[in-house]
Amino acid sequence: MSSTVSAKGNADEGRVLRVGVVGAGVMGTNHARVLAGLPGVELVGIVDPLPAHRTRAVEIVGCPTFATLEEMLEAGPDAVTIAAPTHLHRDVSLACIAKKIHVLVEKPIASSVEEGNEIVSAARAAGVTLMVGHVERFNPAVAAIKQAIKDEEILSIAITRVGPFPPRMSNVGVVIDLAVHDIDLIRWFTESDIVDVQPQLASAVAEREDIALLQFRTASGVLAHINTNWLTPFKARSVTVATRGKYIQGDLLTRQVTECFGFQRDGSYSMRHLSVGHDEPLRAELVAFLDAVRSGNAPAVTGDEGVASLEIAIKCLDAPAGSIAAPLRKGPRAVAS
Ligand SMILES: NC(=O)c1ccc[n+]([C@@H]2O[C@H](COP(=O)([O-])OP(=O)(O)OC[C@H]3O[C@@H](n4cnc5c(N)ncnc54)[C@H](O)[C@@H]3O)[C@@H](O)[C@H]2O)c1
Repeated sequence: MSSTVSAKGNADEGRVLRVGVVGAGVMGTNHARVLAGLPGVELVGIVDPLPAHRTRAVEIVGCPTFATLEEMLEAGPDAVTIAAPTHLHRDVSLACIAKKIHVLVEKPIASSVEEGNEIVSAARAAGVTLMVGHVERFNPAVAAIKQAIKDEEILSIAITRVGPFPPRMSNVGVVIDLAVHDIDLIRWFTESDIVDVQPQLASAVAEREDIALLQFRTASGVLAHINTNWLTPFKARSVTVATRGKYIQGDLLTRQVTECFGFQRDGSYSMRHLSVGHDEPLRAELVAFLDAVRSGNAPAVTGDEGVASLEIAIKCLDAPAGSIAAPLRKGPRAVAS
């Protein structure tokens, strides 16, 4: 790490940052692609134990690659982004933090709350920036919704995040893989903690839960609902927020956001499309991380927030057995012969 960087940010805010990426899978290759195009960034390279993934990263990004984390750390990055499998987040984060390297770790922050808290404590003790990759906050449609509900009294939130089975099944189900995005959004929209969790889960086809209907209540009294599954043949992502004065609907894929307002006694109301930006969410996330590294200010998504969202997701999975659909109707999906 360069000696001109203090552990708590950097006096020279315009300085080029040397950034490495851990994991050359789907997300890590995207991180590297975006970082390679950012001004003020020198992409140190991407580390992955699999030669085929390193070759693919070279073809897509054209950056140096390393077979081990140690080799990459020897190249002296100021910051790393970690997109290795979730069960490695703790060990990789701690190894980087021990060298006073700033860390952006993909969501979920870790496999358990205890591991997440270890990362948070280590980063705090070392005085390095730790941000969690809850990239949906940087979706311009989500940002437009957040802006529209500013100063509004939120009453309820409903989020749908459904789609087909992922091509490669990891060892987590829809709650940890998908719903954790929306748990983070509910906490961020309401600026409140989730205090009550009522999950309904089922594993219809996969080993882990592949359908989840999750209900929440926040400390501020907002009711929220997440509908997520891997049984829908197409991707859909939508958010609706009811406030005392507005009803806002956002499609996170088409990025169309509308708001109903001006409710009249006769049931009529006004409606308008909100202006939504065009930023690539991952680019905006990485820029926010690097800004936090340079300024030493708190990052847009703190480690504590990452742990809080993971804790709620795990609570959904730890719910009493009565809320898990039984008997599990496991079996292959019907397909045309
Ligand atoms: N923010 C999002 O929207 C989003 C989307 C997908 C995945 N993710 C997260 O990103 C992480 C990676 O997911 P993915 O879909 O890219 O998985 P992936 O399986 O495509 O990629 C993981 C990569 O890490 C590599 N790897 C394994 N051990 C390693 C090690 N010791 N050091 C370095 N690399 C190692 C693997 O070889 C693989 O190339 C997960 O934590 C996941 O939850 C986030």
